[in-house]
Amino acid sequence: LRHLLTTEGLPAAMIRHILDTADQFVSVNEREVKKLPLLRGKAIFNVFFENSTRTRTTFEIAAKRLSADVINLNIGASSTSKGETLLDTVYNLQAMDADMFVVRHAQSGAPHLIARHVKPGVAVINAGDGRHAHPTQGLLDMYTIRHYKKDFSGLTVAIVGDVLHSRVARSQIHALKTLGVPELRVVGPKTLIPADVERMGVRVFHDMDAGIKDCDVVIMLRLQNERMNGALLPSAGEFYKAYGLNASKLAKAKPDAIVMHPGPMNRGVEIESSVADGHQSVILPQVTFGIAVRMAVMSILAGQAPGGSA
Ligand code: CP
Repeated sequence: LRHLLTTEGLPAAMIRHILDTADQFVSVNEREVKKLPLLRGKAIFNVFFENSTRTRTTFEIAAKRLSADVINLNIGASSTSKGETLLDTVYNLQAMDADMFVVRHAQSGAPHLIARHVKPGVAVINAGDGRHAHPTQGLLDMYTIRHYKKDFSGLTVAIVGDVLHSRVARSQIHALKTLGVPELRVVGPKTLIPADVERMGVRVFHDMDAGIKDCDVVIMLRLQNERMNGALLPSAGEFYKAYGLNASKLAKAKPDAIVMHPGPMNRGVEIESSVADGHQSVILPQVTFGIAVRMAVMSILAGQAPGGSA
C-alpha cells in the first residue's frame, strides 16, 4: 500500500490485513506502557484544513504510540491564509523531511492531488475529503463491526440519515460490500440519498421502521449542514421525527443490534441520548478502536507493520 486515499477498490485481503494488524495494536493499547518503536525517526504531518476532534487526535496518539515525531499544522496560522497554494504548502513541508501526510480538506480529491505530487517514499492518508471518502473512519467501523459481530457474512447493516453528504457512508459502503455483507441498506429522505447508491448494491428505504427492521448493525449519520449549500432539506425537528433513533425505533432491529455513529453526534436530531448512551451503543469504542486502526494503517504504509505485508 503506497497511500490510503479511499476504501473503494481496496482488496478484501488488504482490509483484513489492516484489521488483523489493528488487533495487535489493541492489545498494545491495553498495556501500561503503550509505546512501540516502529516509526521511530519518521515525521508525520497532520494537515487539517477542516475541523476535527476524533480523527486528528487519534492520528496524533497513534503516531506517538509508534514513536513517530508528529507535527500538527495550525492551518489558521499557516501561510495558506496569505495565498499559498495547497501544493506549495505540501512542497515546503516535504522540504522539512516529512515521511507521511495525514490530510483533511473540504475539497473532494485534495489528498489525491497531494499524493500525485509527493516524492517517492512519502505516504498520504486521506483523513476526510469533502463528501468523497474517509477511509480510516470506514476501516475503524469495519474493525468495530468485526469485534462485536465476528463475521460479516449474514449481517444486515443499515446506514441512516444524510448519506448524500457523507464521506463516511461512502467509505463504509465500499468496505462493507468488499467484505461481503449480504444485506446493506441506506435509510433517509429522498433528498439525502445519493441517486447512484442502488448501483453500488445497496437497498434504499425511506421509512425508518422498515429500514432498520431485523438489522444487526445500525449506523447513524448527522445532517452535514456544512456541505448542503442551502438545499431544501428537512428541519432538524422534522428529521428527528422521521429518522431520529430512539428506543422504540431501535426495537425494530435485532435485540443484539449494535448502534454506531462516526461523530460528531447531534443529540435530539439523529439520535436520542438514551440510545447514544444505551447498552447497544458502541460509539465510544469506535473512537478507541480508531487509535489501533490508525496505528495499523501508518505502520503498513511505512512498511513496518508487525507480521509484514498482506
Ligand atoms: N468521525 C470524524 O471524522 O470525526 P472528527 O470530525 O471529529 O474527526
